[in-house]
Amino acid sequence: MSDDRMNIAGYDYGRVARSPVTLDDLHRLEQTMGFGEADRRALLEAGEILGPQAEAMVDGWRTIIGAHEHLARWFFGPDGKPDDAYKASVKRRFVRWVVDLCSRPFDQAWLDYQHEIGLRHTPAKKNATDAAHTAAHVPLRYVLAFSVPVIQSAKERLAQAGISGDRLERMSAAWAKAVILTLTLWSEPYTREGLW
Ligand code: HEM
Repeated sequence: MSDDRMNIAGYDYGRVARSPVTLDDLHRLEQTMGFGEADRRALLEAGEILGPQAEAMVDGWRTIIGAHEHLARWFFGPDGKPDDAYKASVKRRFVRWVVDLCSRPFDQAWLDYQHEIGLRHTPAKKNATDAAHTAAHVPLRYVLAFSVPVIQSAKERLAQAGISGDRLERMSAAWAKAVILTLTLWSEPYTREGLW
Protein backbone atom coordinates (compact mmCIF):
# COMPACT_ATOMS: atom_id res chain seq x y z
CA MET A 1 0.00 0.00 0.00
CA SER A 2 1.58 3.33 -1.02
CA ASP A 3 -0.82 5.32 1.17
CA ASP A 4 1.11 7.87 3.26
CA ARG A 5 -1.10 6.93 6.19
CA MET A 6 1.11 3.81 6.45
CA ASN A 7 3.83 5.98 8.06
CA ILE A 8 2.14 6.31 11.41
CA ALA A 9 4.11 6.23 14.65
CA GLY A 10 3.33 3.07 16.58
CA TYR A 11 1.30 1.55 13.75
CA ASP A 12 2.95 -1.86 13.78
CA TYR A 13 0.73 -3.81 11.42
CA GLY A 14 2.65 -6.87 10.20
CA ARG A 15 5.31 -6.46 12.91
CA VAL A 16 3.61 -7.72 16.08
CA ALA A 17 3.59 -11.01 17.99
CA ARG A 18 1.36 -13.84 16.86
CA SER A 19 -2.14 -13.83 18.28
CA PRO A 20 -2.99 -16.74 20.60
CA VAL A 21 -6.24 -16.92 18.62
CA THR A 22 -5.86 -19.19 15.61
CA LEU A 23 -7.18 -18.71 12.10
CA ASP A 24 -9.49 -21.66 12.78
CA ASP A 25 -10.86 -19.81 15.85
CA LEU A 26 -11.33 -16.74 13.65
CA HIS A 27 -13.19 -18.70 10.99
CA ARG A 28 -15.47 -20.22 13.60
CA LEU A 29 -16.23 -16.71 14.89
CA GLU A 30 -16.99 -15.54 11.35
CA GLN A 31 -19.35 -18.50 10.94
CA THR A 32 -20.96 -17.70 14.29
CA MET A 33 -21.83 -14.20 13.16
CA GLY A 34 -22.57 -15.16 9.57
CA PHE A 35 -19.75 -13.10 8.12
CA GLY A 36 -19.13 -14.30 4.56
CA GLU A 37 -17.98 -13.31 1.09
CA ALA A 38 -20.97 -11.02 0.54
CA ASP A 39 -20.01 -9.12 3.71
CA ARG A 40 -16.40 -8.86 2.54
CA ARG A 41 -17.57 -7.28 -0.73
CA ALA A 42 -20.01 -4.97 1.07
CA LEU A 43 -17.24 -3.90 3.45
CA LEU A 44 -14.94 -3.05 0.55
CA GLU A 45 -17.74 -0.97 -0.97
CA ALA A 46 -18.41 0.74 2.35
CA GLY A 47 -14.71 1.50 2.65
CA GLU A 48 -14.80 3.57 -0.52
CA ILE A 49 -17.19 5.94 1.27
CA LEU A 50 -15.99 5.61 4.86
CA GLY A 51 -12.24 5.60 4.12
CA PRO A 52 -12.09 9.25 3.00
CA GLN A 53 -14.28 10.16 6.00
CA ALA A 54 -12.28 8.15 8.53
CA GLU A 55 -10.78 11.16 10.27
CA ALA A 56 -14.18 12.84 10.55
CA MET A 57 -15.59 9.62 12.00
CA VAL A 58 -12.86 9.46 14.61
CA ASP A 59 -13.43 13.15 15.42
CA GLY A 60 -17.11 12.34 16.01
CA TRP A 61 -16.23 9.45 18.35
CA ARG A 62 -13.71 11.64 20.15
CA THR A 63 -16.43 14.24 20.70
CA ILE A 64 -18.54 11.59 22.43
CA ILE A 65 -15.59 10.45 24.55
CA GLY A 66 -14.70 14.06 25.43
CA ALA A 67 -18.26 14.76 26.54
CA HIS A 68 -18.16 12.08 29.26
CA GLU A 69 -15.63 12.19 32.07
CA HIS A 70 -15.91 8.45 32.59
CA LEU A 71 -14.65 7.97 29.00
CA ALA A 72 -12.30 10.96 28.62
CA ARG A 73 -10.30 10.06 31.73
CA TRP A 74 -8.50 7.16 30.05
CA PHE A 75 -6.62 9.79 28.02
CA PHE A 76 -5.69 11.91 31.06
CA GLY A 77 -2.09 12.27 32.22
CA PRO A 78 -1.00 12.14 35.87
CA ASP A 79 -1.96 15.85 36.20
CA GLY A 80 -5.61 14.89 35.60
CA LYS A 81 -5.70 16.74 32.26
CA PRO A 82 -5.97 15.34 28.72
CA ASP A 83 -2.62 14.21 27.35
CA ASP A 84 -2.90 15.91 23.97
CA ALA A 85 0.23 14.37 22.45
CA TYR A 86 -1.05 10.89 23.35
CA LYS A 87 -4.50 11.67 21.97
CA ALA A 88 -3.03 12.91 18.70
CA SER A 89 -0.77 9.89 18.30
CA VAL A 90 -3.51 7.38 19.06
CA LYS A 91 -5.89 9.22 16.74
CA ARG A 92 -3.72 8.61 13.67
CA ARG A 93 -3.80 4.87 14.34
CA PHE A 94 -7.53 4.95 15.05
CA VAL A 95 -8.14 6.62 11.66
CA ARG A 96 -6.05 3.95 10.01
CA TRP A 97 -8.16 1.27 11.73
CA VAL A 98 -11.27 2.45 9.87
CA VAL A 99 -9.48 2.02 6.54
CA ASP A 100 -7.99 -1.34 7.57
CA LEU A 101 -11.27 -2.76 8.80
CA CYS A 102 -12.88 -2.16 5.43
CA SER A 103 -9.96 -3.13 3.23
CA ARG A 104 -7.59 -5.63 4.86
CA PRO A 105 -8.17 -9.37 4.41
CA PHE A 106 -8.90 -11.07 7.73
CA ASP A 107 -5.70 -13.14 7.58
CA GLN A 108 -2.91 -13.96 10.05
CA ALA A 109 -1.43 -10.43 9.98
CA TRP A 110 -4.86 -8.92 10.60
CA LEU A 111 -5.57 -11.39 13.39
CA ASP A 112 -2.22 -10.61 15.02
CA TYR A 113 -2.85 -6.86 14.91
CA GLN A 114 -6.29 -7.29 16.46
CA HIS A 115 -4.66 -8.98 19.42
CA GLU A 116 -2.16 -6.14 19.63
CA ILE A 117 -4.96 -3.53 19.67
CA GLY A 118 -6.69 -5.50 22.41
CA LEU A 119 -3.46 -5.55 24.43
CA ARG A 120 -3.05 -1.80 23.90
CA HIS A 121 -6.32 -1.25 25.76
CA THR A 122 -5.08 -3.36 28.73
CA PRO A 123 -2.27 -2.96 31.29
CA ALA A 124 -0.09 -5.25 29.15
CA LYS A 125 0.50 -2.54 26.55
CA LYS A 126 -1.56 0.61 27.16
CA ASN A 127 0.73 3.68 27.09
CA ALA A 128 3.72 1.63 25.92
CA THR A 129 3.55 2.64 22.25
CA ASP A 130 3.56 6.37 22.98
CA ALA A 131 5.56 6.30 26.25
CA ALA A 132 2.52 7.91 27.88
CA HIS A 133 1.57 7.98 31.57
CA THR A 134 -2.21 7.73 31.48
CA ALA A 135 -4.36 5.13 33.29
CA ALA A 136 -3.20 1.55 32.79
CA HIS A 137 -6.24 0.23 30.97
CA VAL A 138 -9.56 1.06 29.34
CA PRO A 139 -12.33 -0.94 31.05
CA LEU A 140 -13.66 -3.64 28.75
CA ARG A 141 -17.26 -2.59 29.41
CA TYR A 142 -16.69 0.78 27.76
CA VAL A 143 -14.85 -0.72 24.79
CA LEU A 144 -17.83 -3.02 24.19
CA ALA A 145 -20.48 -0.37 24.79
CA PHE A 146 -18.72 2.04 22.45
CA SER A 147 -19.49 -0.32 19.56
CA VAL A 148 -22.95 1.27 19.45
CA PRO A 149 -21.83 4.78 18.32
CA VAL A 150 -19.15 3.23 16.11
CA ILE A 151 -21.75 1.09 14.34
CA GLN A 152 -24.44 3.77 14.18
CA SER A 153 -22.22 6.52 12.83
CA ALA A 154 -21.09 4.41 9.89
CA LYS A 155 -24.69 3.77 8.86
CA GLU A 156 -25.48 7.48 9.14
CA ARG A 157 -22.52 8.42 6.96
CA LEU A 158 -23.39 5.81 4.34
CA ALA A 159 -26.95 7.14 4.25
CA GLN A 160 -25.68 10.73 3.98
CA ALA A 161 -23.59 9.61 1.00
CA GLY A 162 -26.82 8.58 -0.74
CA ILE A 163 -26.69 4.83 -0.10
CA SER A 164 -30.15 3.47 0.61
CA GLY A 165 -32.39 0.41 0.72
CA ASP A 166 -30.85 -3.06 0.54
CA ARG A 167 -27.45 -1.67 -0.32
CA LEU A 168 -27.39 0.42 2.87
CA GLU A 169 -28.50 -2.59 4.92
CA ARG A 170 -25.83 -4.83 3.40
CA MET A 171 -23.02 -2.32 3.88
CA SER A 172 -23.96 -1.31 7.39
CA ALA A 173 -24.56 -4.93 8.47
CA ALA A 174 -21.11 -5.89 7.17
CA TRP A 175 -19.54 -2.97 9.07
CA ALA A 176 -21.40 -3.95 12.23
CA LYS A 177 -20.24 -7.56 11.97
CA ALA A 178 -16.65 -6.47 11.39
CA VAL A 179 -16.73 -4.14 14.41
CA ILE A 180 -18.19 -6.84 16.67
CA LEU A 181 -15.66 -9.35 15.32
CA THR A 182 -12.76 -7.06 16.22
CA LEU A 183 -14.12 -6.32 19.69
CA THR A 184 -14.59 -10.03 20.27
CA LEU A 185 -10.93 -10.55 19.41
CA TRP A 186 -9.84 -7.56 21.53
CA SER A 187 -11.65 -9.06 24.53
CA GLU A 188 -9.31 -12.06 24.65
CA PRO A 189 -6.49 -10.36 26.61
CA TYR A 190 -9.04 -9.14 29.16
CA THR A 191 -10.33 -12.59 30.02
CA ARG A 192 -8.95 -15.07 32.48
CA GLU A 193 -6.93 -17.89 31.07
CA GLY A 194 -9.07 -20.48 29.36
CA LEU A 195 -12.38 -18.61 29.67
CA TRP A 196 -12.28 -16.74 26.35
C1 HEM B 1 -15.69 0.27 19.48
C2 HEM B 1 -14.85 0.67 20.40
C3 HEM B 1 -13.43 1.08 20.16
C4 HEM B 1 -12.66 1.04 19.04
C5 HEM B 1 -13.08 0.60 17.65
C6 HEM B 1 -11.34 1.51 19.40
C7 HEM B 1 -10.27 1.60 18.51
C8 HEM B 1 -8.98 1.90 18.87
C9 HEM B 1 -7.85 1.84 18.00
C10 HEM B 1 -7.89 1.44 16.55
C11 HEM B 1 -6.75 2.19 18.73
C12 HEM B 1 -5.31 2.31 18.22
C13 HEM B 1 -4.69 0.94 18.08
C14 HEM B 1 -3.25 1.03 17.59
O1 HEM B 1 -2.38 1.39 18.39
O2 HEM B 1 -3.02 0.73 16.39
C15 HEM B 1 -7.21 2.48 20.05
C16 HEM B 1 -6.42 2.87 21.09
C17 HEM B 1 -6.91 3.40 22.25
N1 HEM B 1 -8.23 3.46 22.62
FE1 HEM B 1 -9.73 2.55 21.72
N2 HEM B 1 -11.33 1.83 20.71
C18 HEM B 1 -12.57 1.61 21.21
C19 HEM B 1 -13.00 1.89 22.48
C20 HEM B 1 -12.31 2.72 23.32
C21 HEM B 1 -12.88 3.39 24.48
C22 HEM B 1 -14.33 3.30 24.95
C23 HEM B 1 -11.86 4.10 25.04
C24 HEM B 1 -11.88 4.99 26.25
C25 HEM B 1 -12.79 5.87 26.42
C26 HEM B 1 -10.67 3.88 24.24
C27 HEM B 1 -9.45 4.41 24.51
C28 HEM B 1 -8.31 4.12 23.81
C29 HEM B 1 -6.99 4.49 24.24
C30 HEM B 1 -6.64 5.25 25.52
C31 HEM B 1 -6.12 4.03 23.28
C32 HEM B 1 -4.60 4.12 23.28
C33 HEM B 1 -4.02 2.83 23.83
C34 HEM B 1 -2.49 2.87 23.87
O3 HEM B 1 -1.96 3.40 24.88
O4 HEM B 1 -1.84 2.40 22.93
N3 HEM B 1 -10.99 3.04 23.22
N4 HEM B 1 -8.57 2.29 20.11
